[in-house]
Amino acid sequence: MCGIVAYIGKQQAYPLIIDGLKKLEYRGYDSTGVAILEQGISVFKKKGKVQDLENFINTETKNTNGTLGMGHTRWATHGEPNDKNAHPHTSGNQELAIIHNGIIENYTTLKKALIELGHSFKSDTDTEVLIHLIEEVQLKHNLHIEEAVKKALQKVVGAYAIVVIDKKSPDIIIGARNSSPLVFGLGQDEYFLGSDASPIIKHTNKVIYLNDEDVISINRNGDYNISNLKNKTVSHQIKELDLKIEELEKDGFDHFMLKEIYQQPATIAQSMKGRLNASEGWAVLGGMKQHINRISKSKRIIMMACGTSWHSALVGEYLFEEIARIPTEVEYASEFRYRNPIIKEDDFVIALSQSGETADTLAAIEIAKEKGAFVYGIVNVVGSSIARITDSGSYIHAGPEIGVASTKAFTSQISIITLMALYLGHERGMISESDYRELLSELEVVPKRVEQILKKNDHIKYIASEIKSAANALYLGRGYNFPVALEGALKLKEISYIHAEGYPAAEMKHGPIALIDMYMPVIVIATNQSAYEKIVSNIQEVKARKGIVIAIINEDDTIIREMADFFIEIPSIAEPLTPLLSVIPLQLLSYHIALMRGCNVDQPRNLAKSVTVE
Ligand code: G6P
Repeated sequence: MCGIVAYIGKQQAYPLIIDGLKKLEYRGYDSTGVAILEQGISVFKKKGKVQDLENFINTETKNTNGTLGMGHTRWATHGEPNDKNAHPHTSGNQELAIIHNGIIENYTTLKKALIELGHSFKSDTDTEVLIHLIEEVQLKHNLHIEEAVKKALQKVVGAYAIVVIDKKSPDIIIGARNSSPLVFGLGQDEYFLGSDASPIIKHTNKVIYLNDEDVISINRNGDYNISNLKNKTVSHQIKELDLKIEELEKDGFDHFMLKEIYQQPATIAQSMKGRLNASEGWAVLGGMKQHINRISKSKRIIMMACGTSWHSALVGEYLFEEIARIPTEVEYASEFRYRNPIIKEDDFVIALSQSGETADTLAAIEIAKEKGAFVYGIVNVVGSSIARITDSGSYIHAGPEIGVASTKAFTSQISIITLMALYLGHERGMISESDYRELLSELEVVPKRVEQILKKNDHIKYIASEIKSAANALYLGRGYNFPVALEGALKLKEISYIHAEGYPAAEMKHGPIALIDMYMPVIVIATNQSAYEKIVSNIQEVKARKGIVIAIINEDDTIIREMADFFIEIPSIAEPLTPLLSVIPLQLLSYHIALMRGCNVDQPRNLAKSVTVE
């Protein structure tokens, strides 16, 4: 949520900042801005995307010279997206500038006090208040910018990753974080700060992940100092990333989302690599193995997540209960954190997050840990905050997911959860050897099955063209396919702006059926498994009300293909593994519908990939 990047070195900062902002745009894209420090601080900002800012700067032939600069791509929290609310924001004397990701919660109190001291504000943002506060503290106590930032931050309540520059210190950039991510990149005679490593990796793979309350001061000569708000020096290890720049490109696909959908045979295989061997009959995860005694004695599993990751967790509930026979609860992290949850010592808490930075999930983990829980992270982004604060965990190794609508992370998360359930079920003696072996073998061939489904793309595109003008859509599924129905509906509304709801198929009678008429597409996941007959009845009920039925069926299905208006075949697979296949056509369906409706598939309105605010 909001992307920030800063540069200090020997090269021209502006092109590097713009390039970095394009990599960060998935975090927010309602306005963009850049500040360059040379003689003074020049700020350029515009409502819209990075490209809009570039066009503005080019047509106005602005001078962007300078070797120290910073840029911001915004997802609005305080103040509507427009030019004046775009970052960077400057102090009253124009000598300081700031970019910020997060929310300053006590900004109204601070603003009132600053107005009384004579400050006036140009924007509606909390961020502008912060830079005025830094200015106030700096002038009042005659402080160097690093000290002024630390002193000002002591008065701040909220989440922030900030970069501050000061005209009076043209060889220094200051960064600070609390609950929002900030990465320091150490190149050859050049240094970077970024919300994540994506704007940095092209220049260096050496990074330091800052922790909460860290303040970093980076000098152009390469000296840097990291300390906390109380001035105590903090030491950090430099990490070497193995992220490849190609992973951040579209690779010939029209959109990141399409690339990521098509990557799934590879990403699912990658997530299971070294963790599953069907012929030898084992599934194991390093992060669990170290703690297997504790984990296998768990009396309850609590899974916490948001968005698509929450849907993966819901699949987890079915998997853990069926295969490992451990009662499992699935929590929205945002709800968990604000009630008084009961956590017992023998609970096993699992947090799922693609980005590893979701603010609600991070806060929920902290609460669970405070209450003595052992927390396991299932995370994609290496080195992210959730990966670092959890007691143990497994990376899903899906590679960077740039499309805002999550696709490959969902299937990789489910692959990991399936391995966890199998490992745990086997350890606990809750699954027969033959069922265990069969599931291992079927899991191993999931990537091939996904490839087969991707070949149906043209047919799915045709179905998309038939229903693209719908105002509403209903997604139905039972059992393992209920979370997939939720995920299918989420994908459609996120990127095509069609109102869609996912429902357990049998619940349709208790409300949504009232909505069904000849204009309502009803997407039914009707694979040939338990409750098949029930799904057949649900489809009859939809048909009786003239709904348009799009059914996801197995290749050997004979009944539903006759009843449905459209059907998409997927290969048969053991029931617990169905979500890994049934979600693929739904991802493609949403993609094509959104495209046909002229929507921005990779950057849907109002959304952001990484939600680092509450
Ligand atoms: C945002 C993204 C979703 C994602 C959710 C949770 O809403 O747009 O795609 O599922 O955050 O993110 P996480 O990184 O924690 O999985």
